[in-house]
Amino acid sequence: MGAGAVVADNNKAYPGKLTWSVFKACIVASMGGLIFGYDIGISGGVTSMDSFLVRFFPSVYRQKNLDKSTNEYCQYDSQILTSFTSSLYLAALLSSLVASTMTRKFGRRNSMLIGGILFFAGALLNGFAYAIWMLILGRMLLGFGVGFCNQSVPLYLSEMAPYKYRGSLNVMFQMSITIGILIANVLNYFFAELGGLGWRLSLGGAMVPALIITVGSFFLPDTPNSMIDRGDNEGARASLEKIRGIKEVDEEFRDLVAASVASKQVEHPWKNLLQRKYRPQLTMSIMIPFFQQLTGINVIMFYAPVLFNSIGFKSNASLMSAVITGLVNVVATMVSIYGVDRWGRRALFLEGGIQMLICQIIVAIFIGVKFGTNGNPGMLPIWYAIVVVVFICIYVSGFAWSWGPLGWLVPSEIFPLEIRSAAQSVTVAVNMLFTFVVAQIFVTMLCHLKFGLFIFFAVFVVAMTVFVNFLLPETKGIPIEEMARVWRTHWFWSRFVDHEHDVKPSYVVDTII
Ligand code: BGC
Repeated sequence: MGAGAVVADNNKAYPGKLTWSVFKACIVASMGGLIFGYDIGISGGVTSMDSFLVRFFPSVYRQKNLDKSTNEYCQYDSQILTSFTSSLYLAALLSSLVASTMTRKFGRRNSMLIGGILFFAGALLNGFAYAIWMLILGRMLLGFGVGFCNQSVPLYLSEMAPYKYRGSLNVMFQMSITIGILIANVLNYFFAELGGLGWRLSLGGAMVPALIITVGSFFLPDTPNSMIDRGDNEGARASLEKIRGIKEVDEEFRDLVAASVASKQVEHPWKNLLQRKYRPQLTMSIMIPFFQQLTGINVIMFYAPVLFNSIGFKSNASLMSAVITGLVNVVATMVSIYGVDRWGRRALFLEGGIQMLICQIIVAIFIGVKFGTNGNPGMLPIWYAIVVVVFICIYVSGFAWSWGPLGWLVPSEIFPLEIRSAAQSVTVAVNMLFTFVVAQIFVTMLCHLKFGLFIFFAVFVVAMTVFVNFLLPETKGIPIEEMARVWRTHWFWSRFVDHEHDVKPSYVVDTII
């Protein structure tokens, strides 16, 4: 075993260290998370800027500023305004499905490159928009870019990372998402002062991370896995030696070829996913992203300024509150990086769920008591506003160390190889679908459910916490290849799964190498 050897729990040893070239590649690749986060954070602030509303959505502006008869809860209720925010996620849903084939046929790197170019085009169109169609088309291009990047970046990170660092490098994706959201919130705060130029800079600013990932991925090496899958075994071996920084990569190379052989044996990955024995994984690939979005987190991420504005904060204070929640989100994600392999996934899920539930109930009571069901124009007393912001921050931190990172991590570690790519696409698509649904119906729900909006999401938080408690086995410290045993020993899922061990196609690998 060479220096820096990495020993997996199943006694497999992959020699290799975290080389500079892997580190660099992962930093560039995780920019994919940054552009996703930037999008999440930017639209709420922009849609609360008066100059933006006057130009593109004058009726919303009138409703908000001039028509005092409008219920506070309903001042932003405009389907066209919401479609500006949510069109991105519908586009991302569609492109994540296309991207799974692109990523397999042309490599992870090329998908990231396409993602970066689409993203750049979208940001350009938005920054120079003079009509609504340019805004929506721009948002859709951004969405296509996000779909490509979210499909390829997590795969790229997992495949490039040495075994031992795979977990942390995966969470770097979520970390970049939260940093992207924060940067967007800070920029909105400063650009809001600039009048008409402000929203252009906020939307056009997305060109910067887009350029980084476009130019960066142009120079990135592709992953050895992807090269093998596309028939370039020699190139893949050379690349593996380079990124691991050593010559003795035999065992890992063999496993990569085995993985490629196994996945090629499956002709219809989508159909395969429907087999009874994959029922637990299929259930998780749908329920985890569904529940992640039904925590209601994106009500805060997209609409914090709108929400704070609706409950009586001044425009500037609303944007500042968004910056605070963004900062809490970044810092609390670090707790997860620290704790996920120590305390386990279930403990974080359960604790985070209870924490979010308590906060949602408190916020609902506070807003309900002050506004009742009619909405009540006027400012909140300062102490009241502070209490609301504090509980929203505690709620955000609960999400940031539970459903945020785990919503991406857990699905990615429970799928056996033969269904991994298809199941991952299901996870991304379900995530985008419900991001879209929440974005699209939020302002209407705020208008009709009023403070009950928080209770609506609280009900789902109860459901997901019960779901995790009874149906999600602990996956901490179990190598991916051994994961089948968590279902085999589970009180409920054991009835669905094969109790035979899978036969590895090593004889086929020997003939290929
Ligand atoms: C979710 C996003 C959310 C973000 C907040 C991500 O894991 O997928 O929808 O906005 O976390 O940090």
